[in-house]
Amino acid sequence: MTDPVTAWHRLAGSTVLLDGFHALKHAVRFGAEVPVAVTADRAAALALADELAPDVRDALGALLTEVSYETYASFVPRPHPTAVAALAVRPSRESHLARLARTPRTTPVVVLDNPRNLGNTGAVIRLAAGFGATGVVTTGTVDPWHPTVVRGGAGLHFATAVERLEVPDLPAGPLFALDPEGDDIRGIKLPDDAVLAFGSERTGLSTELRARADHLLSLPMRPQVSSYNLATSVAMTLYHWSLGAPASLWERP
Ligand SMILES: C[S@@+](CC[C@H](N)C(=O)[O-])C[C@H]1O[C@@H](n2cnc3c(N)ncnc32)[C@H](O)[C@@H]1O
Repeated sequence: MTDPVTAWHRLAGSTVLLDGFHALKHAVRFGAEVPVAVTADRAAALALADELAPDVRDALGALLTEVSYETYASFVPRPHPTAVAALAVRPSRESHLARLARTPRTTPVVVLDNPRNLGNTGAVIRLAAGFGATGVVTTGTVDPWHPTVVRGGAGLHFATAVERLEVPDLPAGPLFALDPEGDDIRGIKLPDDAVLAFGSERTGLSTELRARADHLLSLPMRPQVSSYNLATSVAMTLYHWSLGAPASLWERP
């Protein structure tokens, strides 16, 4: 068996860093391939698994190798309180594109049009995973699998489809673009196959995306307030969709 330090150095450049117990727990739960996982305190990590993730406790027990705290700390940008880190294989672009293109689609796709803040993008992926959205598509230059985005997503990139696309290649489906100037969302039932698009933190929706949109929708907001945070806007919109969607989507498997 390859020792974890050698494996880590061999794989670190070509895999996705799972930083902390919760990221590893989510990734394993949603089927990620994890070739190496380390902890500076195996007993503490397994106690957390017993308490918070009994469903994947055995899988985590088989994956986690204990290393010194110094070795663990050398693998991560800054140590996580749980002292757990792992590397996961990034799913192929083709597999995610196939999931995004599959029809009929039963849950929305979220589009972030040229997002700039990596933490926001991670938070949106976490929301999409929680609501069972089909996926999150970004346009623009940011890689939605950037390590800081993955950190913000808490390992939930593996629970939804996450890819970057050009506006003309967005998945099919009625396109609802969110903008403070749009029609009040409270008068609309969002369909399950909706494509829900949100603008950049700095400049809002691009001209290209606006031109593609079938509907422009606004979230209720007092007149003196300019806009909401991007991830907050996604949360409100997915929640609005969920009110009209079948409750069975959120039942335990
Ligand atoms: C921080 S805002 C963008 C602010 C930007 N300065 C602008 O000019 O639009 C990021 C995105 O969140 C969504 N958003 C924020 N507040 C909204 C509201 N009240 N109604 C609908 N969408 C909103 C929009 O998609 C917006 O493009």
